[in-house]
Amino acid sequence: MTDTAERAIAILKENDRGAYTVPTKGLYPFQWNWDSCLTALGQRHFDESRAWTEIETLFAHQWPDGMVPHIVFHVRDDGYFPGPDVWASGRPTATSGITQPAVAGFAVRRLWEAANDRTAADARARALLPKIAAWHRWFFANRDPAGEGLVAIIHPWESGRDNSIDWDETLERVPTEGIAPYSRRDTQHADPAHRPTKAQYDHYIWLVERFRSLGWDNSKLHDASPFRIVDPGFNAILLRACADLADVADALGAPEIVAENRAFAAKGLAAMESLWSEPGGQYLCRDRLTGTLIASASVGGLLSAFAAIPAPRAAALAGTIGARARACRYIVPSHDPADPRFEAKRYWRGPAWLVANYMIADGLARAGEQATAAAITRSSLELIAQSGFAEYYDPHSGEPCGGGSFTWTAAMVLEFLDRT
Ligand code: DGY
Repeated sequence: MTDTAERAIAILKENDRGAYTVPTKGLYPFQWNWDSCLTALGQRHFDESRAWTEIETLFAHQWPDGMVPHIVFHVRDDGYFPGPDVWASGRPTATSGITQPAVAGFAVRRLWEAANDRTAADARARALLPKIAAWHRWFFANRDPAGEGLVAIIHPWESGRDNSIDWDETLERVPTEGIAPYSRRDTQHADPAHRPTKAQYDHYIWLVERFRSLGWDNSKLHDASPFRIVDPGFNAILLRACADLADVADALGAPEIVAENRAFAAKGLAAMESLWSEPGGQYLCRDRLTGTLIASASVGGLLSAFAAIPAPRAAALAGTIGARARACRYIVPSHDPADPRFEAKRYWRGPAWLVANYMIADGLARAGEQATAAAITRSSLELIAQSGFAEYYDPHSGEPCGGGSFTWTAAMVLEFLDRT
């Protein structure tokens, strides 16, 4: 085993809280949804059983309506805002009231396919299948009420790309008047220059208070939200998860789950075409309220490579990533460096993230774009060698940003090393 792999495993163990893993100490002291699913991919390299537990713990806190919340507050910790009292979701174990990218179906497929313990993997996958299927069903029922085949996010935190430039215009429509006074905790753990701004936080909190006032009733939240965006990356992750879940369900003899999820994937992939921007060479977000595409060249549109998009689209995305590689030293920046709104160190407005890199590289490799996938893998491992296991990195200098000893970064490293 290489020294890098050993360091990655040490971080995963250090952040392990028994049945779930914190993204990093201090900044994120609970269980986060997509962090956990991607973390399991790292854990499988040294403890397969523990990897299954990570996802099972998350799904133990699924809502009765099928939603899987973005945070599970397993413990009390005043070091994080907004905590359980702000969300007031009324769940037996406190959770947030919104969701996150649906990467679980993909993660389960990968754990199941690569398993050494076949009997255990079959049993644990079989138990998770209906839960993940219920989450997928929840998405299309609640976030695609008109049946267009693509789902909307109703809060920037749902995307996982909290402060992306993609949301700037739409957030102007979200008021900030009347929100309760609050004090942020994130800026005590990480450099404020690497984090979302106060102005952005005010909008985030207004949305939380609005949804809370509606009792977190998911049948109402979509139409009640002034923020409703169809994000190509978010949808690509969901559509990939639908296809992967269907494949596992097929092998394990769950035909209803197969049919339902293949139908979601087929319809969604066809609808993804409506988000393609030929001049941009990538997919773009659509504002569901105005129906217009948002002119913002973020990594959200590149993450679309994770789903089974048409080969010419994958080739065009590889070309766009190639152009970004000429504009910065490390790929993949979370936003086009040529855009004047790009900020090299501020969270999702420019920095490179290994989770995004992993999903883009995986998708491009499947589409036959091996050279770009290999370039992304190389760049990711160079960042680790230069700057350690950070939350994200300045794509020009490679400087580590945000939190340190970061769980999902370590998990992705184990996956990258496995593939090289
Ligand atoms: C945070 O607190 O920054 C998270 O990204 C929100 O889930």
